[in-house]
Amino acid sequence: MNLGVLRAGRKTFKDLGKQAVMSGPLIFFSLPVLHFLLFIFVTSTVFHLQLRLSKMSKSWKQPPNLETSVPTTSQPKGIWTVNSIGRLGNQMGEYATLYALAKLNGHQAYISPEMHRHLAPIFRITLPVLPKNVAEHIPWRNYPLHDWMSEEYRHIDGAYVRFTGYPCSWTFYHHLREEILREFSLHDHVQKEAQAYLRGIQKNPATFVGVHVRRGDYVHVMPQIWKGVVAHKGYLEQAMNWFRARYSDAVFVVTSNGMAWCRDNIDTTKGDVIFAGDGKEGAPEKDFALLTQCNHTIMTIGTFGIWAAYLAGGETIYLANYTLPNSPFLKIFKPEAAFLPEWVGIPADLSPLLKN
Ligand SMILES: *[C@@H]1O[C@H](CO)[C@@H](O)[C@H](O)[C@H]1NC(C)=O
Ligand SMILES: *[C@@H]1O[C@H](CO)[C@@H](O)[C@H](O)[C@H]1NC(C)=O
Repeated sequence: MNLGVLRAGRKTFKDLGKQAVMSGPLIFFSLPVLHFLLFIFVTSTVFHLQLRLSKMSKSWKQPPNLETSVPTTSQPKGIWTVNSIGRLGNQMGEYATLYALAKLNGHQAYISPEMHRHLAPIFRITLPVLPKNVAEHIPWRNYPLHDWMSEEYRHIDGAYVRFTGYPCSWTFYHHLREEILREFSLHDHVQKEAQAYLRGIQKNPATFVGVHVRRGDYVHVMPQIWKGVVAHKGYLEQAMNWFRARYSDAVFVVTSNGMAWCRDNIDTTKGDVIFAGDGKEGAPEKDFALLTQCNHTIMTIGTFGIWAAYLAGGETIYLANYTLPNSPFLKIFKPEAAFLPEWVGIPADLSPLLKN
C-alpha cells in the first residue's frame, strides 16, 4: 500500500513516474543497448499478443461474449491486469499480486507499458505487456484489492479483470516465492554493478547488512495523516547492535532518500557504516539493487524496504507498531500480512505523537 496516496494524489505520482522513467534506465544502459533491449522486448511481446489476439479476433468487434471468445484449452484464459501506481516498491507489489492471483484463477496476466517502464530496466520480468490501444477497448471489470489475501480472491470471475489498489503483501504470493524471485531477479549488468560496489567497500569477506531509511514525504505524511512515526535514531542503533552482536564482520550499507539525516543520526564511530547511493528519488534502482545484494536487511517503513528485504532473503529487522492504536492506517494495513513471520520487529518510539 502507499502511505503517501492521500496527500500526494494521482498527478504527483504520475510526475514522479515520468521522472523515474526519464532518469532511470539511463543509469544502466547506454542508448544503443537500451534500444536493442527494447527491440527484443517489443518484438517478442507483439508476437505473443498477435498469437493470442488472432485467436480472439473473430469476436473482437462484436459485443464481447468474452467467456466463449477464448479458446477452451488448458492455457490460461482472458486478459487480467493491474493498475500501475506508485513508485518502485508499489509497482513490485502490484506486479507480484497480479502474477499470483491470475495464476490462482487460471487467467493470463498482462502488465501495462507504464509498469513495464518501472520494472523492466532492473528485473527480468516475464509478463507480457498489453499495448495501450488494446487495453482501451477492453470492457474491464475493475476489482479493488485490500492488502492481504482473502478467500474470495481464489474465485474471481471474469475474463477481463483489472485489479486496483496498492497490494503489497506476501500473503498473496509467498507460496510462489521461487517464481517471484525469478521475476525480480536483477539483470546481469545491474547485479554486477552492485557487487562491484560491495567489493569496493570491503575487500575481505564480510556480512553485509543493507539499511534502508525511508524519509522524504513520509516524515510529514506519517504524523499528519496516519498518526504514526518514521524510524528514529534509537531504532537504527538497536537494529545495528542486533547484527553487531551476531556478526563480528558486519558492514552496514545505508541507503536513504534522506541521507543528510542519516549522516547526522547514525553513529559511525565503530567504522562499520557506509553511506551508499545518491538517494535520488527519481532513480532508486541502484539503491535497490545494492540492498538486494546484501546478506541481511534493516528496513524502516515502506514497500521499497519490504521488497529489498524479501529479495535479499536474509535476516530482517523492521520497525513495528509505528502508529497509534487508533490510527486509520491500521484499517488498510495488517502488519502480519506485510512482514514475514520470521522477520524481527523492534517497536517504534511513539512519544513524539503523544506530546500533542
Ligand atoms: C554475502 O553477500 C555477499 C555479496 O552479495 C556475497 O558475496 C556473500 O557470498 C554473501 N555471504 C553469505 C554467507 O551468503
Ligand atoms: C506490536 O503491538 C502488538 C499489540 O500491542 C503486540 O502484540 C506486538 O508484540 C508488538 N510488536 C512488537 C514488535 O513490539
